[in-house]
Amino acid sequence: MKISIIGIGKVGSTISFVIAKDGLASELVLYNRTREIAHAEALDIQQAVALTPHRLLVRDGDIEDTAKSDIIILAVSAPMTKEMKSRAELLLSNTQIMLSLIPLLVRHSPQAIFINVSNPVDALTYQIWQIARQHSKQIHWQQVIGTGTLIDSARFRDLLASQLGIHPADINAYILGEHGDGQFAALSSAMCGGEFIDANPLRQQMVEDAKQSAWTIFQTKGYTNYTVSLAVELIVRSIVEDLRSTLPVSVSIDGYCNVYSCCLSVPCVIGRQGIHRRLETQLNERETLAFQNCAHVIQQQIQF
Ligand code: LAC
Repeated sequence: MKISIIGIGKVGSTISFVIAKDGLASELVLYNRTREIAHAEALDIQQAVALTPHRLLVRDGDIEDTAKSDIIILAVSAPMTKEMKSRAELLLSNTQIMLSLIPLLVRHSPQAIFINVSNPVDALTYQIWQIARQHSKQIHWQQVIGTGTLIDSARFRDLLASQLGIHPADINAYILGEHGDGQFAALSSAMCGGEFIDANPLRQQMVEDAKQSAWTIFQTKGYTNYTVSLAVELIVRSIVEDLRSTLPVSVSIDGYCNVYSCCLSVPCVIGRQGIHRRLETQLNERETLAFQNCAHVIQQQIQF
């Protein structure tokens, strides 16, 4: 399995390390605008792999070296400053970056599954899908995935777990919609062991606390990298091992809640082909309106 990672900053390098450490690829190509950074990170990770039971080649490369990748992870982004108050402020600069890279990446790897991390992840994932389909007749929407609210769901489950005294992995509760202010908890269908999780005001506060925690981390250390990197690792593992895991990720929406022409997070079954199924979570009226509000926000952001 060949995996290429585009953008070797704090997030891209952490993702590269996690994938190598878990032996999820036989070849890992690191692409960065500053080639020396990619070379140093690749060398450091290659040496670390010597301490694992895995065998894989980790190398830096240019876009041509990504050819025939099975998975391409997009972690490339303009720098986010501490003055920024929304991920959407990165839209214009990151759109330009994707317009320059996606045509080349798709030409060299039309069969690849693209996993986008870059923010604003929903609008960018949709635009990546639009750019890709203009440059390859082969590519399908199932091959374009954004990390979306998988990260937010992890944060929410972490808070719920502490309060309920249940392991996060056993809490079937999703944050859906936008990876941003519009996100909401699908509490009307949230369960643990078949028991509904009551949707009291404390839960809504938890959603806000989970949302705010990202900004607390960002304002303090200037970036987030661990949760998003393990979110990518979950998606990659489900693709590589064809696990058919159900994960809330940002995908092209085609009619769910009467929403079209944007990417938002819904629970999806992920396997070797990318998105195998978009699941249609039963939402109550408030949650449906929240999902439609997210769609309106993202559609306003989308440039093409
Ligand atoms: C976060 C970034 C990845 O929420 O948007 O951690």
